Amino acid sequence: MAELSLPDAPDAPEVPSAATDGVWLRCIDCGHDHPPFDAVRYTCGECDGLLEVRYATHPTFDEFEGSGVWRYAAALPFDSGVTLPEGDTPLHRVPRLEESVGVRNLRVKHEGMNPTGSFKDRGMTVGVRVAREVGVDRLACASTGNTSAALAAYGARGGLETLVLLPQGKVAAGKIAQASLHGARILEVDGNFDDCLDIVRELTDRGEAYLLNSLNPFRLEGQKTIGLEILEEFYADEGRFPDRIVLPVGNAGNTAALYKCFRELVRGGDLAPGDVPKLTGVQAEGAAPMVEAVESGADGVERWDDVETVATAIRIGNPVNAPKALPGIRETGGTAVAVSDEEITDAQRELAGEGVGVEPASAASVAGLRKLRESGVVDSGEDVVCLTTGHLLKDPDAAADAGADPEPVPDSTDAVLAHLAGRDVGGLLGRLRRLF
Ligand code: F0G
Repeated sequence: MAELSLPDAPDAPEVPSAATDGVWLRCIDCGHDHPPFDAVRYTCGECDGLLEVRYATHPTFDEFEGSGVWRYAAALPFDSGVTLPEGDTPLHRVPRLEESVGVRNLRVKHEGMNPTGSFKDRGMTVGVRVAREVGVDRLACASTGNTSAALAAYGARGGLETLVLLPQGKVAAGKIAQASLHGARILEVDGNFDDCLDIVRELTDRGEAYLLNSLNPFRLEGQKTIGLEILEEFYADEGRFPDRIVLPVGNAGNTAALYKCFRELVRGGDLAPGDVPKLTGVQAEGAAPMVEAVESGADGVERWDDVETVATAIRIGNPVNAPKALPGIRETGGTAVAVSDEEITDAQRELAGEGVGVEPASAASVAGLRKLRESGVVDSGEDVVCLTTGHLLKDPDAAADAGADPEPVPDSTDAVLAHLAGRDVGGLLGRLRRLF
């Protein structure tokens, strides 16, 4: 088990004068404290470092009640938010996959079952609440697709205008359709996600809109509840916490959020430092700056300018939350691994074979676990939870490419029977033609 060290965390934090109702923002670089809601700020005004939401008290499991994200209000800055509602996603058992990967226990936390089909909803229910608190009327994000779908839906729910910047030609069809129908203004940028985020940061710094990318520390508060649900449910079933959580990494927001979740539970006394799950990140080979940093032991991540992968959700070369996430991977004794597009598609098919329909980025977690198991980094005795972050229908084209082709048949029962018996010469020729 990993020993969790808590570098900057006294047991009973001194509440700074900047706090409002026991909540404040702390810079992870210079340690400066800021009031949480007096102004719109995404990074530290002193040094531009990333901000983290801090609390005067730390949660314990017995304080949680109700369901969904807001069950965990004791660990969040508010008691309620703009909700659809979100959270309470299944922690599937996948027995065939568990056996073929070869671990003691494999569970799949399917975040694709959230209202807009991805984990982003957990961040948005909190983030849009904060937007109301600070009094803005326009929300904005850069996105590989899912953030834009969630922002559009939660913005619509909250009665706020939304603006989303997407990398042209690189966003899956389901996600654009969602953003569009929920009424977001969609700007397609001739660049990749990282370029879109650079522009949105400038727009929001100039006061044009409120930024709801995972750079916004409040989004990560909502996403912490993925970890709380996993730990609660796994413990209820198995009487222990999982050894490892494997997740796809793009901007590394979830990695950062899970690490924060564990640290707060350790401070609250409900999670022993030795029981903290090992955070294990997976990236696509064509977009793997975090893996590069973990493997080289570097302090920070070098931006990749050219990125490509079938998993368009994690086609990201500059993971903005790396300074929060890298310590999480290291301190929990986890690791990071890169997988090929082929491995991702194979894992997507394997999950589908268990009835769990996910988009390619989500399948990266299972592909990464398989790879780490084969190389012996993951032990056969481990209890593992893989996070699948988005629903199959987000990317219908990738799903259709990974799945079987429809078979055209003539309009008659006899012909259908002949086809099923393999005696339909016309249909057979058609299938052969499609193969070659
Ligand atoms: N999986 C899916 C399906 C995603 O949409 C994303 C991120 C990730 C994983 C990576 O999560 O950033 O917390 O490491 N999608 C963002 C978006 C970038 O714009 O929808 P992370």
